[in-house]
Amino acid sequence: MKLIFIGPPGSGKGTQAAKLERMRGLVQISTGDMLRAAVASGSSLGQQAKAIMEAGKLVPDHLIIGLIEQRIAEPDCESGFILDGFPRTTAQAEALDQLLQDKGTALDRVIEFEVDDSILIDRISGRFTCAKCGEGYHDSFKQPKTTGVCDICGSSEFKRRADDKAEKVKTRLSEYHALTAPLLPYYRNKQLLRTIDAMADIDEVAGQLNLVLESG
Ligand code: AP5
Repeated sequence: MKLIFIGPPGSGKGTQAAKLERMRGLVQISTGDMLRAAVASGSSLGQQAKAIMEAGKLVPDHLIIGLIEQRIAEPDCESGFILDGFPRTTAQAEALDQLLQDKGTALDRVIEFEVDDSILIDRISGRFTCAKCGEGYHDSFKQPKTTGVCDICGSSEFKRRADDKAEKVKTRLSEYHALTAPLLPYYRNKQLLRTIDAMADIDEVAGQLNLVLESG
């Protein structure tokens, strides 16, 4: 199964993609995580992306499209993947269509995570992740079961993102509405779009997602 998750920053795309990866064996492909890894490694891509990401703006299409082209050609993607944070512009969506067509395959579903902007700043500013395995947590909504210890890998090191400050989140939301939301009619016209209520709690959103994937 080949899926796209579309939604504003903090709508829960990464949280649900990680769950689905564990439950269904689909590969989570997060362009945000790939770019943060490039920044951390100091690669040429990371150097070009760093300031743009910290400002909350979108990285240029040609950099991202090359990254995805390489990633989906890897053998682990053959059994299916979840694109989490890609495509984010019409040019990216068109490039993806071409890449998949060249491989003789196609998307199964595009899932829209629908959330009111008003709750996103709280969600994002409370977010932290395990520094070792990347499991996501939240100060109010999802604390580790044992304080200070990751549920998944047992590490006691956690980190917060540089672009999760309130003023940067506002820029990220503007970018979403201006450049990414126009993809919703693009995929609706292709009859691939399904919308879920991402205001619900994490398990309920996972339940909705399962229903949508089972029901076609
Ligand atoms: P990226 O890393 O993709 O960030 P984003 O889209 O802004 O999304 P987030 O990761 O912030 O949110 P999410 O929807 O995954 O929410 P999460 O599950 O973490 O991109 C970062 C930057 O990289 C971009 O700004 C851009 O510069 C660049 N970039 C990336 N892709 C690009 C592309 N294709 N083109 C150009 N540039 C690109 O949840 C948030 C918090 O809420 C968590 O703490 C979670 O525990 C909690 N939570 C989740 N669900 C719920 C729920 N249902 N109820 C309560 N709490 C919840």
